[in-house]
Amino acid sequence: MSILKVENLSKIYGEKEIKTVALNDVSFEVEKGEFVAIVGASGSGKSTLLHIIGGVDKPSSRNSNNRWSKCL
Ligand SMILES: Nc1ncnc2c1ncn2[C@@H]1O[C@H](COP(=O)(O)OP(=O)(O)OP(=O)(O)O)[C@@H](O)[C@H]1O
Ligand SMILES: [Mg+2]
Repeated sequence: MSILKVENLSKIYGEKEIKTVALNDVSFEVEKGEFVAIVGASGSGKSTLLHIIGGVDKPSSRNSNNRWSKCL
């Protein structure tokens, strides 16, 4: 059973020439009982991902396929 589902999540900070693509179309699921670690280089978007999952930031909506959801 999936307890977390992220679908086609993108986050772009800023706009035009100063825009930063922090998350580019991220999708994954976490199963009940699964142990997951988020790893990556500094600036790869780990905190951005956790902020959005935690509800303290919003994803960017680039197109109609851009969505995310969670189930607990
Ligand atoms: N509020 C913000 N405004 C503009 N750019 C941002 C903002 N927050 C993060 N960024 C940029 O988004 C990218 C991802 O940053 P993030 O903090 O999510 O990375 P991280 O993987 O958590 O890095 P670290 O390992 O250093 O904590 C970086 O290029 C960062 O500069
Ligand atoms: Mg971080």
